[in-house]
Amino acid sequence: MEVIIKDNYDQICEEAVRLIHQKWQVKNGLVLGLATGRSPLGVYARLIELNQRGLMDFSRVTTFNLDEYIGLAEDHPQSFSAYMEKNFFRHININRENIHRLSGTPDDIERHCRDYEEKIKTAGGIDIQILGIGRNGHIGFNEPGSSLASRTRVKTLTKSTIEANAPGFKNKDEVPRYCLTMGIGTILDSGMLILLASGLEKNEAIAKTVEGPVTASVPGSALQLHRTAKVIIDHHAASRLQRKDYYLWVYEHRDKITDFLKKR
Ligand code: F6R
Repeated sequence: MEVIIKDNYDQICEEAVRLIHQKWQVKNGLVLGLATGRSPLGVYARLIELNQRGLMDFSRVTTFNLDEYIGLAEDHPQSFSAYMEKNFFRHININRENIHRLSGTPDDIERHCRDYEEKIKTAGGIDIQILGIGRNGHIGFNEPGSSLASRTRVKTLTKSTIEANAPGFKNKDEVPRYCLTMGIGTILDSGMLILLASGLEKNEAIAKTVEGPVTASVPGSALQLHRTAKVIIDHHAASRLQRKDYYLWVYEHRDKITDFLKKR
């Protein structure tokens, strides 16, 4: 796991976009896993800018979204599908058939989840999965207690997630109680994981994710099992990390370390 600590949210997003753009340059037909919520908004804004300035073509990019509320139609303003349209897809030259999302109103939930897993496989797997993290350590909608081997399936949201997501709805009772989410096992199959977090409210989840034991009680801690997980955070989110100075030092010296390894 690589922990990259930046001064502010803009810099977090720039770093994530740098990694995505770098991969896009070498991988014809990049497959991206996408998250919703506040954390990736700046990443989408920058990717849109790159696309509109002719610096990143999305016509061969394929996307898979992490999760969706059960019971919300695609065009419901609070659905993750609507979020993606508004904040990303409608602004870039992506081919509609390359966009994959979980439906909030599938006829057969189990089959829909199985098909989603199959589609990811057929696409050759996800190259880069973007993640945010909940205050309780959830990734996707894998709430604490989710199996580290889980695949795409139905989950029941926790009270804290319902409360965190309530502001977008007219009242708390309107927030769906159930969702579909890629599993932790599905997420771990991705080539690279990029987890973004900013603000003091995330510092405990980040400390447990990075330095705590690997446990289903903190789904984010599963990132410790991944070979190429990048945790890109600001100083607030990093404030409870015991090895913060070490992560900063390693990042500062990364070029020297690369040169040293090249010369050997
Ligand atoms: C949403 C998702 C969630 C969010 C998490 C953090 O697709 O996967 O795990 O990433 O709830 O949300 P924000 O970024 O709004 O703090």
